[in-house]
Amino acid sequence: MPSPKSPRSLLPALLRAAARARKRAYAPYSGFQVGAAVLADGRVYAAGNVENSSYPLSICAERNAVAMAIAAGARRIDAAAIVGGAKRPAAPCGGCRQVLAEFSAPDTPLVYATPHGHSVTTTVGALLPSSFGPGDLMEAAAESTGRKTGPPGMARSAARVRGTRSSGRRG
Ligand code: THU
Repeated sequence: MPSPKSPRSLLPALLRAAARARKRAYAPYSGFQVGAAVLADGRVYAAGNVENSSYPLSICAERNAVAMAIAAGARRIDAAAIVGGAKRPAAPCGGCRQVLAEFSAPDTPLVYATPHGHSVTTTVGALLPSSFGPGDLMEAAAESTGRKTGPPGMARSAARVRGTRSSGRRG
């Protein structure tokens, strides 16, 4: 039986999905179209940025792609690809790094590229070292309550599903 493909080997396919999603981005205000694709539970979820005439309500492509995966029931992201920028590939913004980190591991592969193929391959942990995460909430809650459980709602969180980040602190 052929072995399942590693997330890293799927980055080119994710990039293609992100490039397609970028074409459907709604960015009439900035004119800056971004596409993102994430791999979760063996499926690809892709989306573009969606802007709004009330500018701050605009949503980045990465956040839309992550939301699609999570809404479909996934809780872990195994790889991500982003397409945006002109000469220089646009790296994900700080907020999107935090959202990606919530559902991925420090060594989760991530590639960002221009629509013309100039790409940078890195990891979620390299883009957001020493990040705040679900493990921090659980540790604080455990300390204040003396219990090992986290705050209400944490039981079904990404942290629980992937075994918490407090055990494998990224840096
Ligand atoms: N944008 C993204 O989609 N992802 C990022 O990581 C950075 C910025 C979008 C938001 C906005 O619609 C446009 O790019 C310009 O900031």
